[in-house]
Amino acid sequence: MSEETWVDVYCAPTGYMLFEDGGEPGFERSNLAPLAGAPAHLLSREATRRFLCVEKGVPIGTILGFDIELTVDIQNLVKYHAGVFGFTGTGKSNLTSLIIRRSLDAWGGEGTVVVFDVAGEYAVSLADMLASYGVLYSPEDLKDADSLLQSQTVPETLESKISPQQLRSWAAGLVDDGRVRPLQLGDEGGGGITLGFILDTLRGYRDDRKTGAVQAADLIGHIQAIASKRRLESDVPVGSLSADARGELSDAVSEILGKLNDRSSLYTELSVVLSVLEGGGGRTQGVDGDPGTYTPRSLALQAVSENAPPLIIVYTPEPGDAREAASRFISRLLYLKKHGYRRRVCVVLDEAQEFIPYETRRDDRTLQSSQAVESLLRQGRKYRAHCVLATQRVAHLNTNALQQLHSYFVSTMPRYYDRLVVAEAFSLNYEVLERTAELDTGQWLFVSFKSTKQRNVPVFIQTPNNEDAVAEYFNMTST
Ligand SMILES: Nc1ncnc2c1ncn2[C@@H]1O[C@H](COP(=O)(O)OP(=O)(O)O)[C@@H](O)[C@H]1O
Ligand SMILES: [Mg+2]
Repeated sequence: MSEETWVDVYCAPTGYMLFEDGGEPGFERSNLAPLAGAPAHLLSREATRRFLCVEKGVPIGTILGFDIELTVDIQNLVKYHAGVFGFTGTGKSNLTSLIIRRSLDAWGGEGTVVVFDVAGEYAVSLADMLASYGVLYSPEDLKDADSLLQSQTVPETLESKISPQQLRSWAAGLVDDGRVRPLQLGDEGGGGITLGFILDTLRGYRDDRKTGAVQAADLIGHIQAIASKRRLESDVPVGSLSADARGELSDAVSEILGKLNDRSSLYTELSVVLSVLEGGGGRTQGVDGDPGTYTPRSLALQAVSENAPPLIIVYTPEPGDAREAASRFISRLLYLKKHGYRRRVCVVLDEAQEFIPYETRRDDRTLQSSQAVESLLRQGRKYRAHCVLATQRVAHLNTNALQQLHSYFVSTMPRYYDRLVVAEAFSLNYEVLERTAELDTGQWLFVSFKSTKQRNVPVFIQTPNNEDAVAEYFNMTST
């Protein structure tokens, strides 16, 4: 090296001190600052590996500038919620797919990932997993392979590696296997008749002493007993209750109907309730091969059931639909979790700004989705309900939600304000964050409190291309 050679070295405090332990490197948390003018040394490859990599962890990328695979505790990465931030095209959806892929592998069927997909990317990016153990739900009409393919995006880079015939036979296989199912939004059965609505109606008769007041009071008692025994929420549409619960409720209603004058108004009202309970607006719960309709709430029940499909993709291109589906699914999921369902569920929200924007309104359902996601982030951990989210505009996000993420990946974000919000929300050194301006597609600044060997040590990594796994699958299956 000549005397004129300049080497730029960027340093960032990690909060750790290296010590020697019988010839081996050891690391200890320390708040001592390096002395100005003191000699500095680079960590060896091996020392770097020991400092950063989780033993027997799952590889998620190569550390930039080193030939080292960064291994993490993938369970913890997801368990303590993760975020992926970067400008459009930096590889967020690709990395999110990779995280889902790695988690599903690690869980070995002991958990379900539910992806809320507004862009129609995830069926293809998880094509192999969807075909072998996933289900895609959508309010769109996706009855055949062609409409399914038209609704989904295939990255150009992937398009060059697989043929249209391969894609077509994959899509046809999904449809034939019953892996593409309709999702019903809007009123969840029975014109939105809920237990609460029925009880309120009956209370009206009882309290106003209208004809049938005595029978109404009787029925209130019956319904409350059934609801408390079965732990039914009052805001659940009766059409989406289990067949057993509906049966028990319709027995109670029929019994009272038999005691009423068939020209009374209570009789008419209860007849409507009975027709809903007995299948008019009813639906079947998610059983494999069942051509019934599914609602976001019934999906939540499906996701926590023992034989749930490990991968559920909910494809809703309309943001309003996506928010409705996500908020209902999440609220129900948390409710079920509180009542003892243990199965691990990870909710994935790409384009998270659609679900948890900084400013929320009731009419476009951002208020509902934002509240649901915030509850998931706050309470999820103790119930094994997790969240991974990705977004291009951090500054437009609900900051309460942001602060609940214990791991995050940051790529290039051209807007200063987005970087500032990340630095603030995660107490990340702004100088470190500035280096993300130089990152290429698939390169990330990764910081994690729980999934890396040391807490919150920023690492720059290059993640594997998820499309490689997809291309490999297509080229392996078509022979
Ligand atoms: N880790 C990666 N390695 C190589 N190429 C990648 C990687 N991640 C993304 N890409 C490329 O960048 C394109 C955009 O990625 P995508 O995940 O859709 O970005 P975003 O969701 O941030 O808009 C992909 O089609 C892919 O070709
Ligand atoms: Mg994307």
